[in-house]
Amino acid sequence: MASLASRSLKALRVASRRAPRAVTQHASAASYSLLARSAVASSARRATTPNTVRGIKTLDFAGTEEVVYERSDWPLAKLQDYFKNDTLALIGYGSQGHGQGLNARDNGLNVIVGVRENGESWRQALEDGWVPGETLFPIEEAINRGTIIMNLLSDAAQSSTWPTLAPLITKGKTLYFSHGFSVVYKEDTKVIPPTDVDVILVAPKGSGRTVRTLFKEGRGINSSIAVWQDVTGKAKEKATAIGVAIGSGYMYETTFEREVYSDLYGERGVLMGGIQGMFLAQYKVLRENGHSPSEAFNETVEEATQSLFPLIGAKGMDYMYSACSTTARRGALDWAPIFEAANRPVFEKLYKSVRDGTETRKSLEFNGRSTYRQDLARELKEIDEQEIWRAGKTVRSLRPDYKP
Ligand SMILES: NC(=O)c1ccc[n+]([C@@H]2O[C@H](COP(=O)([O-])OP(=O)(O)OC[C@H]3O[C@@H](n4cnc5c(N)ncnc54)[C@H](OP(=O)(O)O)[C@@H]3O)[C@@H](O)[C@H]2O)c1
Repeated sequence: MASLASRSLKALRVASRRAPRAVTQHASAASYSLLARSAVASSARRATTPNTVRGIKTLDFAGTEEVVYERSDWPLAKLQDYFKNDTLALIGYGSQGHGQGLNARDNGLNVIVGVRENGESWRQALEDGWVPGETLFPIEEAINRGTIIMNLLSDAAQSSTWPTLAPLITKGKTLYFSHGFSVVYKEDTKVIPPTDVDVILVAPKGSGRTVRTLFKEGRGINSSIAVWQDVTGKAKEKATAIGVAIGSGYMYETTFEREVYSDLYGERGVLMGGIQGMFLAQYKVLRENGHSPSEAFNETVEEATQSLFPLIGAKGMDYMYSACSTTARRGALDWAPIFEAANRPVFEKLYKSVRDGTETRKSLEFNGRSTYRQDLARELKEIDEQEIWRAGKTVRSLRPDYKP
């Protein structure tokens, strides 16, 4: 079954390189993804039973009621009909452009890509089967051809290109973002949308690569949706529909402000900055106390990512604790509040730095440089060369499913 699915996917990829429009039509007969075809067929059968029909709903999140939108509200035929007169113009083809664009294309929608001609993104778009003059255009031309302008340039580029792009976003078009960054921090970015277009947001809560892999597995990523400006009265509905189109499974309503504050905070905190800092601090103390690199790595990173963190993801923190020894449980229960107290001032400082725009200005300055790719790559190489991550390469190489 799995190999059949992967053969179908391979065939789709080959076909998509040759003739993206034909694939679009083929996919329209399929589903949210080829791999999900059978899953969706059976969920469609279930949806005929009234008690199991799901859709927009209010759920109790630890005592707070919140509205959640879900994909089953938008069967593929309805989705395609809704967007039948639209062209989704993806501007930028980084990680989100790749994931969102391919998913919307596989969902049978009219999608085009607009990027700098002959840049790295142009090359990647060609590799993914977008065809120059048909589905791949320079940025300005793609905006002119699109009705829904999906601004997926880097946040710094959204700001630097705005004076050129803004006049092209004319009445009747919709302006879409995947981050509240540009419009919320408008004093710094100077991105002020025209007053006669809907301005909406779908922000997947994960990398664009995950947006794509979850879609291919027939699952969907969690996304935040929000409306900045509703000219047509349909902005929220449109945001929900596009959320489904680009591969979301569940969508949580928020505002542009709350999305950008929480996102900038989270990625600098536990998701990326915090985790690297914690891993490194723990590893270094082990090494200073005579532990070998493999022991320090296994006890810091490997056990976390391969054993314990997936248990938190599956069933929560108490479940992970319960799966560990009583010795481990006692110690972790004692030390968790100490770590919380030590970290809390750092998180408070971080949140303040997000809210007052310090993080935005730093990002605009750094990522606005013409050398942003090389500059980021240099610093990431420094991480890659840290002993902890060099030790990790050897540990990973021993896994049975290791791929260099
Ligand atoms: N990645 C994530 O995990 C994630 C998650 C949720 C939301 N978002 C949001 O999604 C949006 C896109 O993010 P991303 O990670 O996909 O992309 P990104 O890596 O931040 O940006 C890449 C795109 O920006 C283009 N670009 C950069 N500088 C440019 C310039 N001066 N002129 C024209 N194009 C330029 C690049 O084209 P070239 O190749 O030609 O340089 C590339 O297509 C952002 O708003 C981001 O905050 C990202």
